[in-house]
Amino acid sequence: MRILAIETSCDETAVCLAEASGDFPGRAGGPDFRFTVLGNALASQAALHAQYGGVYPNLAKREHQKNLVPVLEQALTESSKKQETRDKQDSRHQISKGEIQTILSREPELFEQLWPFLEKYGRPDIDAIAVTAGPGLEPALWVGVNFAKALSHAWGVPLVAVNHMEGHVLSAFLRKVGKEFSIINFQFPIIALLISGGHTEIVLSKEFGRYERIGQTRDDAAGEAFDKVARLLDLPYPGGPEIDRLAKEAREKDAPQHFKLPRPMINEDNFDFSFSGLKTAVRRIVEAHAPLSDEQKMSLAREFEDATADVLVEKTVRAVDAHGAQSVLVGGGVSANVHIKRELARRLSTVDCQLLTPPTGLSTDNALMIALAGYFRAAGDGYITADELRAVGNLKLQ
Ligand code: KG4
Ligand code: ZN
Repeated sequence: MRILAIETSCDETAVCLAEASGDFPGRAGGPDFRFTVLGNALASQAALHAQYGGVYPNLAKREHQKNLVPVLEQALTESSKKQETRDKQDSRHQISKGEIQTILSREPELFEQLWPFLEKYGRPDIDAIAVTAGPGLEPALWVGVNFAKALSHAWGVPLVAVNHMEGHVLSAFLRKVGKEFSIINFQFPIIALLISGGHTEIVLSKEFGRYERIGQTRDDAAGEAFDKVARLLDLPYPGGPEIDRLAKEAREKDAPQHFKLPRPMINEDNFDFSFSGLKTAVRRIVEAHAPLSDEQKMSLAREFEDATADVLVEKTVRAVDAHGAQSVLVGGGVSANVHIKRELARRLSTVDCQLLTPPTGLSTDNALMIALAGYFRAAGDGYITADELRAVGNLKLQ
């Protein structure tokens, strides 16, 4: 099955064209699973949002409108160079400009680019269009959703709605084998630690495609805390990679540790988190010592990363214990953090539990993971009509 996937939940505009076949381990045996990326393109708005220190939903919406057609074109061009011949599809059927315009009535700039594109190119050789329906920034999500509806209408291809968090979960199972991906062997139940700019959750999965959220943040998401703390330290947005780098430098230099931060909720008997107090504690230190020297900033970045890692790891290990989990996976942008991954791996090795992390480059938002989740939904006949398909900002994983 060939899937075209679209992701616009936050500040990355991404499109992936992938070919997938076979089933998932744990469902029907599954070693036959194969996933090949034919075309993959992404336009990041991070530099644009950097000047505001965070993502502005309406700015993101405008940028997705500008970027979607060029990103789609890039993914299709890449795929046309790679594609082996499959029976050529009937290339162009009659499409009405008025109908496409109606579907994109709230995205006029997108329509302006899409219409000439549809006139120029034939229908690509795809079987389904998968799109992120949530969670995320609703104005941003709608652009991708309406774009998917317009393409589905123009090309007569069915739609699949994807939960962005399921994309993050499934990408942790992927392993690159030559030019293809396969899926690693693992055992249920699994605990998923999902840590991104908008989410911090512990999810229990006892069987493929079924999820139960057992813990979450009560205020800021982990990535949001990284971004806010980075801002307090005058580091650019997104702050996670900056803090990761500074903290690593502090550890390598064995720099003196000047500050101590709290580990919020670490001893509470639940799987929830709270990061806003940690951010406030950082602010107090910054205010009390202003202006901070470079060495003080490095030390504070390290202590913040240590504090965050300590609570994330402690609660995850406790969830493993409580639910007898055989494997833990981490997903979401913050799972790119080297220290958090290392600490998790270290603690889990002591309880004989396997840690699964996404392949390099697939921790942060991308459309490949949407194609992957979309494939399993489509293979399970999880298609959705254009009328039913909606963007849902707080879509739950279940
Ligand atoms: O999953 P993602 O790309 O987008 C959302 O769905 O939110 O996550 C983005 C978040 C940002 O807050 C960013 O600062 C954080 O992931 N991030 C990191 C690292 N790389 C990205 N946080 C800590 N360490 C990193 N290396
Ligand atoms: Zn994400």
